[in-house]
Amino acid sequence: MRIANLHVTPDVVLAPMAAVTDLPFRTVCEELGVGLTITEFLSANALTEGARKTMDKLTPSLNGRPFGVQIFGREHDLMARAALMGVEIGASLIDINMGCPAKRVVAGACGSALMNEPHLAQELVRAVREAVPAHLPVTVKHRAGWDERHLNAPEFACAMVEAGAAMITVHGRTREQGFSGKSDRAIIRKVREAVPANVPVVGNGDVLTIDDYFRMREETGCDAVMIGRGALGNPWLFRSIRERLAGRPDPGPPDVHERARVFDRHLDYIVSHAAPKKLVHELRKAVAWYTKGLRDSAHVREQAFHVLDPVQVREIATRYFSSLMQEKKFPAAIASDVDKVSREVA
Ligand SMILES: Cc1cc2nc3c(=O)[nH]c(=O)nc-3n(C[C@H](O)[C@H](O)[C@H](O)COP(=O)(O)O)c2cc1C
Repeated sequence: MRIANLHVTPDVVLAPMAAVTDLPFRTVCEELGVGLTITEFLSANALTEGARKTMDKLTPSLNGRPFGVQIFGREHDLMARAALMGVEIGASLIDINMGCPAKRVVAGACGSALMNEPHLAQELVRAVREAVPAHLPVTVKHRAGWDERHLNAPEFACAMVEAGAAMITVHGRTREQGFSGKSDRAIIRKVREAVPANVPVVGNGDVLTIDDYFRMREETGCDAVMIGRGALGNPWLFRSIRERLAGRPDPGPPDVHERARVFDRHLDYIVSHAAPKKLVHELRKAVAWYTKGLRDSAHVREQAFHVLDPVQVREIATRYFSSLMQEKKFPAAIASDVDKVSREVA
């Protein structure tokens, strides 16, 4: 996919997810083959006030890999200044969140509420566009519409492009749906058909498997697919997509050794990058993702949630994975379990 001058390959993007797509998670997904990652949404107000918690989330990808910074807000000057903070850390693009359904965000008339104010939304895109260097794409992520009576995604996307957006991502649910029901591929197709061909449209929602990926591409004509929940505990989905797009066979789900290796690496990144106060919490989260659906995993999660020392959390998980590695039946069993779990998470 080409976003203005930025080349993204393969055509798959990790969805921004609050409290999930931190630097460790993004790095693991990058290493397994995702084309682009985006920070979780960062409040323009908080960034420009220098709020510590938000500033900590403004992190560039490692090793110069491309990444986007996602911001939200509704005041031009703050959005422009926040975008510049993204530029300063080397962002490859600035994405504007116009899809968040959360009550506290919508109450401030930000996120998906902006779909009800296309003129203001356009002004925000223009303000950010003018603030950042000309070569840097400004992109917008939004939903199908506010509710089923207001499915304005195609017109809205065109208005954003007219204001300067260089890529549109559509999550095919309405704000009213939140995360219920299904992501509507028909509306994503309509957006693809409405937006000029040189502006990529990214389809998003409910992609949990490699088959879902290709279905999204075929049914919507989208240029790339954004994956969120399907990558939780299963970053190997990006490896499968990368290999298939390169014309090679899908290596399929990981065996236990590979699972343990990536889990361990993820923990290393957490140890190196998490704020000390959040370390145990972040380690437990990773334990939960990588063990969900595996034999006796509820037990290991419970153990991990009852210790306060990060070293102990890691030891518990390492012991657990070692015990799995001694099981002969493992690879086939885990493959079906992981598939089942991916569907449950959604
Ligand atoms: C825990 C969580 C946090 C999210 N945070 C953000 C966010 O910060 N910015 C955003 O644009 N979307 C956010 N989303 C929405 C996702 O980016 C994505 O649009 C949605 O989950 C649908 O894709 P999926 O079915 O592949 O998960 C979040 C979703 C989840 C589950």
